[in-house]
Amino acid sequence: MQRLSLAIPLMCLASLVHAQTPRALPDNREPILVSKAERNLVLAEMREFLHGLHNIHYSLARKDMKGVSIMAKPMGPLLERLPGSLKEKLPEGFTELAIAQNEAFQSLARLAENGSDVAPALEQTAEILTYCSGCHDTYRFDVPLAPKPRR
Ligand code: HEC
Repeated sequence: MQRLSLAIPLMCLASLVHAQTPRALPDNREPILVSKAERNLVLAEMREFLHGLHNIHYSLARKDMKGVSIMAKPMGPLLERLPGSLKEKLPEGFTELAIAQNEAFQSLARLAENGSDVAPALEQTAEILTYCSGCHDTYRFDVPLAPKPRR
């Protein structure tokens, strides 16, 4: 009996530890090979996207449609902000998603300029987010490791 009373908490502890051990999830995203500097550049653009969405949400909450349009317009054209040498490395699917996302940002800007209510503008913002997550589910940036120097 005493052994059993010890066994149960031990089993619970074991399952808790098991639940907290990170499982090795497969990464099925397509790698895009870039240099470290290129990766830094594109990730900085990405963080700007997040800042921009944050500001758009604040403007929507305040029904400030002018603010929405001012924020949304320049956010779209990601590709225009990247150097040609980097654009050449991007797969067609990536480029298409970036172009479609830009159009979704421009539609949001137009809605806001035309005095839209908050709900349709919010729906359009959700549409933009489908491009963020669609691309994140599909691609990752990889910096190839430099070959080890021979001794
Ligand atoms: C066309 C493809 C594409 C689109 C569209 C896209 N992203 Fe990304 N984003 C990426 C890739 C690729 C990475 C790097 C993922 C990796 O290497 O693990 C990334 C990384 C990020 C990161 C991490 C930055 C860091 O410093 O590590 C953030 C934040 C981010 N994206 C936000 C966004 C937001 C918000 C949107 C939508 C407004 C968006 N992205 C749209 C491709 C995209």
